[in-house]
Amino acid sequence: MRYRRPKYFKEKLESFEDTYLVKQPEQWKGKWRTKFQDCKDIFLEIGVGKGQFLYELSKRNPKSAYIGMEKLDALLIQSCQRAERESLKNICFMGKNASCLEEYFEENELDGIYLNFSDPWKKSKQAKRRLTHGLMLEKYEKVCRNGAILEFKTDNEELFEFSLGCLKESQYEIVFLTYDLHQEESCEDNIVTEYERNFLNLGKKICKVKCILKKNANL
Ligand SMILES: C[S@@+](CC[C@H](N)C(=O)[O-])C[C@H]1O[C@@H](n2cnc3c(N)ncnc32)[C@H](O)[C@@H]1O
Repeated sequence: MRYRRPKYFKEKLESFEDTYLVKQPEQWKGKWRTKFQDCKDIFLEIGVGKGQFLYELSKRNPKSAYIGMEKLDALLIQSCQRAERESLKNICFMGKNASCLEEYFEENELDGIYLNFSDPWKKSKQAKRRLTHGLMLEKYEKVCRNGAILEFKTDNEELFEFSLGCLKESQYEIVFLTYDLHQEESCEDNIVTEYERNFLNLGKKICKVKCILKKNANL
């Protein structure tokens, strides 16, 4: 994503450090439930971008907590401003890279992960950077509890096929799969992300897979 950082972005971000921006998420490892005491479960979105998806989800489900991770921290200003405007109590953000996930979450701490329009990393030598690569799925399996969900949407069929292959090798069980989400009845509940809106406007079909984590007791 090409993105020019806004002026004074550091100062703007710092102003949310006591509220919506978690500066040192490693300090919350194993303790996220104490941060969101009124919430029964905790979900993570990796690569939130400008955060529209997580914002809608947190408004729909005030008894669940939502953590947004984004490696381009300047993008989080808009997410924090929106959360503040609505005084949301069940959402926060971190400007971090998912490659270090285990530094921020304890084993079995999360109830689910959302991946929306993750970067495709088209060249095969870049495959390990894909958020649905087997190495990343292993990280998700570790920080998520048995029965946790994983949802992934993309417009990119090649990335989708690659991801399905990785999921089949993982401890995730696929419970829903479509190559054209917006033709499905279940699409009524779908939250359209910023990238999804752009792809829909271009006439592209949206692929989606939903999985449940079935942890192997022998591992
Ligand atoms: C194509 S954008 C999609 C944004 C948003 N999810 C949407 O659907 O509109 C992908 C986002 O993921 C972020 N991202 C990519 N790899 C990441 C990683 N390893 N950790 C955290 N964020 C990542 C990028 O910075 C970018 O903002």
